[in-house]
Amino acid sequence: MSTFSFLLEGLKNIGTTGTITRSGTALCKAAIDRIDWTTARTIVELGAGDGVITRHILERLHPEGRVIAFEVSEDLCDDMRAIGDPRLVVAQDSAEHIRAYLDRIGADRADHIVSAVPFAALPRELGERIVTAARDNLRPGGCYNQVHYSLKTKAYYERAFGTVEARRVYLNLPPAWVLYCRR
Ligand SMILES: C[S@@+](CC[C@H](N)C(=O)[O-])C[C@H]1O[C@@H](n2cnc3c(N)ncnc32)[C@H](O)[C@@H]1O
Repeated sequence: MSTFSFLLEGLKNIGTTGTITRSGTALCKAAIDRIDWTTARTIVELGAGDGVITRHILERLHPEGRVIAFEVSEDLCDDMRAIGDPRLVVAQDSAEHIRAYLDRIGADRADHIVSAVPFAALPRELGERIVTAARDNLRPGGCYNQVHYSLKTKAYYERAFGTVEARRVYLNLPPAWVLYCRR
């Protein structure tokens, strides 16, 4: 999807996209930091958009690894399907349904979870449900990395994971945060 089309998609569905720009390269790299690529085989991505972070994950993922990428917008899912990587499972569904998609690929838990779901724009109960499902389906020791433009919902991750480390990513328009948690 072009930057202009992404902007239009963002404007059309601002209540669920939470932004009109996609993550830049520095933010994508920060979003997948702390993942142990030598052992990671199952990565779950929440709020994948048109796959801008997904592509970075696929570049580094083991040839036998899988990425389940959740996205609610049909148009954005079509963009991800066009990536055409057999390791990518596009889940056109809300992120709280992680368990069902892990079962479909025969995975017990996710090794790591990367999220850009705009929790500040979603109803609080839905946000808490998604974060709880993420925590419950993450293997012990796995990381949960959350991209955000504010720290408004930091308490969700503190409640689910305990300690949360926030890193500012200035090299992005607008400047963003990545919150790092561990199961
Ligand atoms: C801020 S955008 C991030 C897009 C892309 N990952 C990036 O980093 O540029 C957030 C995405 O989360 C999606 N989204 C919103 N609610 C969701 C939900 N309940 N489950 C899955 N995805 C959701 C939106 O449609 C949107 O594409």
